[in-house]
Amino acid sequence: MNKGNDTVRQSIQVGVIGLGTVGSGVARILLEQGELLQQRLGVPLRLVRLADLDLERDRGVKIPRKLLTTDAREIIDNPEIDIVAELIGGIHPAKELILSAIAGGKHVVTANKALLAAHGDEIFEAVDKSGVDIGFEASVGGGIPVIRAIREGLSSNAIESIYGIINGTSNYILTKMTDEGKAFNEVLAEAHSAGYAEADPTLDIEGTDSAHKLAILINLAFGMPMDDQSIYTEGITQITPLDIMFAREFGYRIKLLAIAKCSGDEIEARVHPTMLREDLLIARVGGAYNGIALVGDAVGETLFYGKGAGQMPTASAVVGDMVEIARNILKGASGRVPATSFLRSRRTPRRIKPMDQISSLYYLRIMAEDRPGVLSRISGILGHHQISISSVIQKGRRAGQSVPLVMMTQRARERAIQSALKEIDALPMVSGKTLLIRVENGEESRE
Ligand code: HSE
Repeated sequence: MNKGNDTVRQSIQVGVIGLGTVGSGVARILLEQGELLQQRLGVPLRLVRLADLDLERDRGVKIPRKLLTTDAREIIDNPEIDIVAELIGGIHPAKELILSAIAGGKHVVTANKALLAAHGDEIFEAVDKSGVDIGFEASVGGGIPVIRAIREGLSSNAIESIYGIINGTSNYILTKMTDEGKAFNEVLAEAHSAGYAEADPTLDIEGTDSAHKLAILINLAFGMPMDDQSIYTEGITQITPLDIMFAREFGYRIKLLAIAKCSGDEIEARVHPTMLREDLLIARVGGAYNGIALVGDAVGETLFYGKGAGQMPTASAVVGDMVEIARNILKGASGRVPATSFLRSRRTPRRIKPMDQISSLYYLRIMAEDRPGVLSRISGILGHHQISISSVIQKGRRAGQSVPLVMMTQRARERAIQSALKEIDALPMVSGKTLLIRVENGEESRE
């Protein structure tokens, strides 16, 4: 018996807006894996319409011409379509299309992290009002089902912290720099041709894409409204092969890490290059792979690993959402799992700790003249700001010229470090701006 519908459904109908890389992958799965999906669902998941402005491009998948249209409204307004996938990305007109589909009672699937990070709450409110489902698994971690894990598998936990390598492009670049000693720009070009980077790669390398994804994770994991603008964000463009080599000497790897920690009524939310102790599992997440560690009060640390970008991994998540929604439709159970994991009305806004109030371990690479007294001058400034040094390396001897002087500090306040660096960088024997990398050694998640 089908409880939720007056008539027994013979199929669930899907429309896809946007036939780019991900949209074409979604079409491939729906057209080529129909039997497998029907075995899981009981009825066919039918792709009935696809919209894109360019209908001529070869997408490597055979799509019957009669399914194609250049007009997205033909999908939004089609009363036969149950689920609309928005895969065009960007804010406009994606937002308007999604809101219009929801208002028309359609369920929505999207991979649009930028949109959800900026306007998620408006969209989630519309979803609640209409009593439809929204799936956005593909927005974070590509094919890794981390959103489903937070919303369902870990729902008995208070999530305490999130540590995520959630940008495949940056991870690919840093891994190649580490393994092959190549410079940043050379590897960026390779990432681009491998198809990982966003159309505008600054979103990847400046940390913005990671911040979008972290905002979504915080919203779900901590049960609080969150937008990407409130996240401290620093990219990887300043990292040199030299820093990667020093990190290795200290037993660390450099990763672009998205970090969120929740304690009581305040959270830390930041994206920046981070030195991770190399024996931590997450430090070994290499290439274009993503890794997301979630620490829950009951479960302890969990680690989700997989392909965070690319056509088929992302399409896997999109179609997975369609299957979940189709199951709900068939059981008349839409809205069963809140989009935001917590009920929207029961969420707890929390204060975001200003960056200068966090504390961390720090790696400092200072370009200083190689002559007597320089090290004591610099360590004197750090001492004056209550910063203890745990190790120092100076490589190469070039009397009177600049050489890298590298220091690892013990736990210190960000405000103290920034004040000390202002003084250090103003010294006549120091050239350029000191590079600072925050260090995580896993001590908190192991406690
Ligand atoms: N540009 C993104 C990345 C794609 O490199 O991870 C997936 O969101």
